[in-house]
Amino acid sequence: MGIVIASTGKALPEFKLENEQLSKLVDTNSQWIIDRTGIETRHIAIKETGLDLAVKAAEEAMGDMDKDSIELILVATVTPDMLVPSMGALVKKTLGLKNAIAYDINAACSGFIYGLWNAEALMKTHKIKRALIIGVERLTRITNWEDRGTCVLFGDGSGCAVLEHSDSKKGIMSSFVKNYDDVTNCLTVDMQYLNTPFADDEPKEPYIHMNGTQVFRFAVGAIGEVMDAVLQKAGIKADDVKYYVPHQANVRIIQSAAQRIKQPIEKFQVSIRTTGNVSAASIPMALADLMKSGKVRPGDKIMLVGFGGGLSAGAILFEAI
Ligand code: ACO
Repeated sequence: MGIVIASTGKALPEFKLENEQLSKLVDTNSQWIIDRTGIETRHIAIKETGLDLAVKAAEEAMGDMDKDSIELILVATVTPDMLVPSMGALVKKTLGLKNAIAYDINAACSGFIYGLWNAEALMKTHKIKRALIIGVERLTRITNWEDRGTCVLFGDGSGCAVLEHSDSKKGIMSSFVKNYDDVTNCLTVDMQYLNTPFADDEPKEPYIHMNGTQVFRFAVGAIGEVMDAVLQKAGIKADDVKYYVPHQANVRIIQSAAQRIKQPIEKFQVSIRTTGNVSAASIPMALADLMKSGKVRPGDKIMLVGFGGGLSAGAILFEAI
């Protein structure tokens, strides 16, 4: 009957970087970071690879499921360990998921939403039984540790959801994604390629460059638009949604999303305090936190909502099983 979110998992690196430590690196202080972003601490992968984190999150989500039943792996990331093989292919090999088609998706912080959007369509069209949708990032490797405007924001981690076909349950009720043009280049990360013997390209800095105020404004507008779109498609009201799981970029963006849709902030999952912004991994990690909280009951309607570089945005509305 539908595609359901059957289970979730999450993995964080061991090392925690506190706000206090950041104030020794750049001209900032813990109170500014908490007041302006809501972030108190974040995890940074020192020993772990992205693959380690993705595999750990996937193992937690899969539990004792039959490995051969996984027929699709989509990994959303802007910081893959390698360009080739894809992270999807690496996860498939490491976990021995021999029946899975595997590849990566780059839609920046909206990557997990785009992954679910792709997976739902593919699973329905190709009658795929089960899929792993993973968000994984080591954002701290593309962070400029001398830029106080960005280095206080980011962290590393991974989250995973198992999607499966259900004959009796509705699962995903509606989905909506949208791309807006980043006309002012307010959120970019350059690639650092080698020169060919034929041209001397100017070296580029492989760091996150961001105009925070512009991204903030975009986020608030786009979140409102995509939340309205999934509600309208499903024919329900914001009041009918039990929990909202937004991208964890800034607690003030989450608060303004709650105001925009006239819902109490208590309905919104806030995980950013201990993780920072982990781009494509933020939403699946926050979803895993919500599912583990014990609050969710079968039939509860949950909305996932994200925005990010591209500029991209999207939302997924589903019923918990
Ligand atoms: N510590 C202390 N002061 C700081 C810091 C810091 N870490 N960073 C900036 N400031 C200063 C600025 O220099 C500025 O000082 P000035 O007034 O003397 O010029 C002042 O604080 C205010 O700066 P703003 O940039 O206007 O601060 P704002 O309230 O907008 O907060 C922030 C900045 C947190 C970046 C916010 O704009 C934001 O969260 N934007 C959205 C970011 C986002 O959502 N990114 C998602 C995508 S990221 C990705 O895709 C990987």
